[in-house]
Formats: sequence, C-alpha cells, structure tokens
Amino acid sequence: MSSTTNATLSHVDSLFNNYGTRKLSMVRGEGVFLYDETGARYLDFTAGIAVCNLGHAHKGLAVVIAEQAQTLLHTSNLFLVPGQVALADKLAGIAGLAEDAKVMFVNSGTEANEAALKLARKYHAAVAKTNRTKVLSLPGAFHGRTMGALSLTPKAAYHNGFTPLLPDCLTPNSLEDVLAAIDTDVAACIVEVVQGEKGVYPLQAQYLQELSKRLREVGALLIVDEVQTGVGRTGTFFAYEQVGIQPDIVTLAKGLGNGFPVGAVIARKSVAAAFTPGAHGTTFGGNPLAMAVGNYVFDTVTKTGFLEGVNRVGKALEEVLLRHFEHVSGRGLMWGFDVADAASFTSRAADRGLLVTQCSDTRIRVVPPLILEESHVQAFEEIVQEVI
Ligand SMILES: Cc1ncc(COP(=O)(O)O)c(C=O)c1O
Repeated sequence: MSSTTNATLSHVDSLFNNYGTRKLSMVRGEGVFLYDETGARYLDFTAGIAVCNLGHAHKGLAVVIAEQAQTLLHTSNLFLVPGQVALADKLAGIAGLAEDAKVMFVNSGTEANEAALKLARKYHAAVAKTNRTKVLSLPGAFHGRTMGALSLTPKAAYHNGFTPLLPDCLTPNSLEDVLAAIDTDVAACIVEVVQGEKGVYPLQAQYLQELSKRLREVGALLIVDEVQTGVGRTGTFFAYEQVGIQPDIVTLAKGLGNGFPVGAVIARKSVAAAFTPGAHGTTFGGNPLAMAVGNYVFDTVTKTGFLEGVNRVGKALEEVLLRHFEHVSGRGLMWGFDVADAASFTSRAADRGLLVTQCSDTRIRVVPPLILEESHVQAFEEIVQEVI
C-alpha cells in the first residue's frame, strides 16, 4: 500500500537531514488511520510516537481548537491563563503525590525533563539547602535531546559530538548500581516506569519501590518521566499508579496535547516552591490554545469507561502479540516485541498498510491511538501474519 510517488518526498533539499530519509508523507488522518499523498490508507500503530491518544482529526478537539483560535491563541505568562488553572487543578487532583501538587506548563517532553532537572537542583539549593547537584538516571533511559535531558539519557550514540554534557548527571551501568549510588550527595533520580524508547520494557514494581525508599531515606527526589507513559497510555492515567510509588516530580507531554505541543511538570508543593518568580519560564508554555487542548484531552481520557477500553483492547493486543512474537512486553496500549530484522519488518508492514516504530535492529514498538477497538486489533493481526 505504500507509495513511492509521493511528490513531497522528492523535494526535501531544504530540510536538515537529522531524521534521515522519510519514505512516506501523510496528509490526512481519521481515527486510527492515516492517509498518504496518493490516498493509500494505513492502520496507525505509531500515533505520532505515542501522542495522538484520541486518534487523528478528532471532531470534538477540532471544534475546541477552532473556537479557541477565534478567541485567543496566546498571551504569554505575563498574564494569568484561566485554562492553566483549570488543567493544573485536574492534574494535581489525580497525581496522588505525598502533599498537595502544583503544576507548571511547558511545550515538550524534553523541556519538561529539563525543567524537572533544574527544579531538583534548585530545590536542594534553595529549599532543602543541601546544595546537592548529582542526578541519577537508569540504564536504557530516554529523557530527551536538550543538553540537560540528553545528559540524563545514557545512549552513547546520542552523545556523539555533543560532549561535554552536564556535570553530575550520572547513569550507573546496572539497576543495582543505581541503588548503590544513592547517597546524601544525590539530588534526584529520574525514571520511566516503562522504558519506551528502549523497546517498551516495564521496570519491576519491587525495584521501583526499593529505589523510591532509598531516595527518600537520603532526602533525594524521585522524578518520574511520564512523557510517553502518561495520559492513559499504560491503562491508568499515570503508569506509576500501577507500581506503588509516589513521585516528588512528574513530567508529562506527548498524549496531553494529542498532537498540539503541550508539556507539564507536576511537583509536590514544597518542591515546586523552589521555582520562585523568575527562576524558570517559557514564552509559549501553557498558552490559551495549548490549555484548551490539554483540558479537552484530560476530560476525554478521564471519562468513565475510557481507560477501561484501553485495558480491554490492550489485553486483546497483548494476546495477538504473544501468539506471533518473542519477548513481548508492555502495558495498556504500549507494547514491544522482538523480530529478526526490525527495519525490514517496519517497511513490509507499511507496504501492507500498517505503521509501527522500530526501537532497535530487532525490536518493534506499537503505540496505537487509545481509541483503538478490537476490530483494529484483528486487522493488525491479519497484516502481521502476512508480514511474518
Ligand atoms: C520517556 C520520554 N521522555 C522524554 C521524551 C522527549 O520528549 P519530546 O520528544 O517531546 O521532547 C520522550 C520522547 O520520546 C520520551 O519517550
């Protein structure tokens, strides 16, 4: 079904080549489907890399965006944005942190993690007055591409040519070594409950609980990166709800905007207090359009039955994957599995009208829109059978 005649694809001289050559160009979407320039239809198990939770061209969201665009797009944080207050109340209300939570809005996942890293250091400088600067991350982690977030992302290939990175951002070589590295010099540790970019590997609840306990014992902060897992992707609003830990700071992005750039940092109030006026900021973060979208997405995902659907259809997808693949792992509608040749699998799937993402030479990730239905899982299985 894939097309080699897409006009746009042969005219890319003016773009940076940092994404390499793209073989497809999508021009339209509807629910769980994308359409390329030739009109060919694809079952989208990428959802804009775990972003378009409500599917493509969602009618309700389109109305909200159009209405907000006709009312007020942007004012900056010189002014209070009512939508920020509304969405912050909702996120703080369900975060379940150890004390009241506060929220700050940004524009992307990397920016949310960058802010979390700064917040952790500022907390130790200004509130706890311990002046700790060390921040730990886990082997296999992915937290983003800005210099701070990159310093917390241990993949050597991403560091190539960008060193020196931030000092005191440390990634021990094993999960055990992370625990062993926790002492009174550590400001914080950042974790993903399910490591998405690595290939959708959930961390054991017991490990995360032990990590959380040790951090608490030494007065270090637990940052949970929910950029990919948050907003219902794993079957609960936050993935940490399923593993019995209480973060001090949570970062969100991706699904919160369904494709419109929105990110958020949620923190317990004594940590958030470290960001006094002027300590951090962004021009666009939390603008009226972003907040109209964020509020709509939040209200939809938290409606009765929505997350139940994610779990039900997620279970059906897991069963299909277990029938056909090795090393299937994930939660909700976020799954990874092994194949012999991931590049070839991805391209053969696209040729048959199915879009998946490649995590490594032998690992595939599927993160479909959360509105997926059983009939789509059936269609997925039919294509997969042809591909393998
Ligand atoms: C867990 C995690 N954190 C951070 C990021 C970076 O987010 P963004 O691409 O919005 O900057 C990603 C993106 O894939 C992610 O999966």
